[in-house]
Amino acid sequence: MNDSFAIPVLPFQRFRRLRRTPALRRLVRETRLDPSTFILPLFVTHGFDVREEIGAMPGVYHLSVDRLPYAVEEAVGAGVTSVLLFGLPETKDAGASEAFAPEGIVQQAVRRIKADFPDVVIITDVCLCAYTDHGHCGLLTATGTIDNDMTLPVLARVALSHAEAGADIVAPSDMMDGRIAAIRATLDDRGFAETPIMAYSAKFASAFYGPFREAAHSAPSHGDRRSHQMDPANGREALREIAADIMEGADMVMVKPAMPYLDVLAQARAAFDLPITAYQVSGEYAMLKHAAASGLLDERRAMLEALTSIARAGADSIITYAAVDAARWLAEEWGGALRALPAPATVAD
Ligand code: PBG
Repeated sequence: MNDSFAIPVLPFQRFRRLRRTPALRRLVRETRLDPSTFILPLFVTHGFDVREEIGAMPGVYHLSVDRLPYAVEEAVGAGVTSVLLFGLPETKDAGASEAFAPEGIVQQAVRRIKADFPDVVIITDVCLCAYTDHGHCGLLTATGTIDNDMTLPVLARVALSHAEAGADIVAPSDMMDGRIAAIRATLDDRGFAETPIMAYSAKFASAFYGPFREAAHSAPSHGDRRSHQMDPANGREALREIAADIMEGADMVMVKPAMPYLDVLAQARAAFDLPITAYQVSGEYAMLKHAAASGLLDERRAMLEALTSIARAGADSIITYAAVDAARWLAEEWGGALRALPAPATVAD
């Protein structure tokens, strides 16, 4: 008789069973990117027939109003049906007057896109930094600090002017305290109770906005934005910022930037039920584009992986400069997977 004992061996887990083929992997995929959840930022400038690439952000352009319909058509063709507008004003002043002018650049852009594409979701960035001669997000006091409470009615006026032009959603990015309440009250009072607010709630004072400041010509002439944007070290405070914006009436909230703040995004997802948007900012985009251009990364795989990580962390929608490319890549991927499957058998009668 064999006097050795049978040793119970736990079956080891064969995770690889479900990774064998593309179709199996797609079947069990937990996170799916969907172009209808992408938001494409567009930079609108004065002039005619302008389409100038922004040096720091390959593939992103300054567009004049007449060129916007082409960009939107391209996006819609790829399945991207939401855009976020940033304007480059003709003149800047201490009071940011072009930000709320009826003929301001964003107001013109909204009307133009609405006329051609009434179903596209037009979101407008509400901030003063691109419109003030000093480049700050609010009005300044005599000593040069931002006057939070004096800025609120100006922001409300900007948001109202965007809504009047036809914006579907207004998105304040200024990080003044109380802005959501101020904007909500003004919109409600002026007949725009139906216009939602997407609040840039947890917006961090990030080095990753560097390329954007070239794109929007919005770098502050002195100082920085640390007196109003969040300290990158503060995850718990981010949740309080989001809770405050929700209490003030935000319909959607945002975490920005995205990839360096995926923990904040995941915590926000767990804590709140509102739609959450994440902003893959200019620096995140530029890093990937430049690394890909120097042959360090496969652009398509790296970009889709970055976007997937943002969706996996809990974003319902993603603002990304790569929206159109990503949408096309996804379509190709699906098409490729389908072609790879055997043709369905026909029933012989
Ligand atoms: C402010 C604003 C900024 C961005 C969006 N809205 C710049 C800033 O806060 O300095 C950054 C977006 C990006 O980097 O892609 N109006």
